Amino acid sequence: MRKPLIAGNWKMFKNAAEARTFIYAFKQAVADVKDREAVLCVPYTDLWAAAEALKGTPIGLGSQNVHWEAQGAFTGEISVGMLKEIGCQYAVVGHSERRQYFGETDTTVNKRTLAALAGGLTPITCIGETLQEREANKTFAVLERQIKEGLKGLPNPTAVVIAYEPVWAIGTGKTATPAQAQEAHAFVRQEFAKLYGTAAQSVRILYGGSVKPDNMGQLMSQGDIDGGLVGGASLEAESFAKIVKFEKAAAVTK
Ligand code: PGA
Repeated sequence: MRKPLIAGNWKMFKNAAEARTFIYAFKQAVADVKDREAVLCVPYTDLWAAAEALKGTPIGLGSQNVHWEAQGAFTGEISVGMLKEIGCQYAVVGHSERRQYFGETDTTVNKRTLAALAGGLTPITCIGETLQEREANKTFAVLERQIKEGLKGLPNPTAVVIAYEPVWAIGTGKTATPAQAQEAHAFVRQEFAKLYGTAAQSVRILYGGSVKPDNMGQLMSQGDIDGGLVGGASLEAESFAKIVKFEKAAAVTK
């Protein structure tokens, strides 16, 4: 059984005071949630306050990046050890915004993913095609390359979390249809199985890209969608709590 995981990615939003206010409301709103995991991936400057505010709750804490070296002359980067010390359990790796604006490649994504796993931090490693790639029918080729290169050499493959985020659906209000998302997720699982065999049945694959309270239930009714990576709709406690508390839509046609 793959336990659903719903991670909020705050990107570069909210200061520490705003983080505290959010968490105060959010933890009450999801207090009765037991059968799924909720995680908040916050800016570095919020980590300390968020860790304090989350104490005693099962809500996970994550960063939005992590470096592969333990320490050194890497201005602007942060290590696994630093994140663990502050109370992080997760790190988003290779988000499309990092690939697009900060030169992240499959090679650096792989290094970050491996380092996180080695240090006991769960990487939420992001993959996904751009609109141009989808329109050129390259979706599957891109996903195949991102998986083969970005997720190679994992010592404990079931410990990674994969987030499939079609770039054209991020922050655009254009969600992939449940059928489009399921098709991509099934492909991702199949490619992961080529590398790691039966571990693919246990690995969690999250969908990201304009997830909202009103489309989460439909997405989660698909067999290979194991949770969500949520940007915009994770910034308000009420809306993110609704997403976490999704109910699977009953009969959704694929
Ligand atoms: P969005 O972002 O939910 O605002 O589309 C998702 C993400 O970038 O992880």
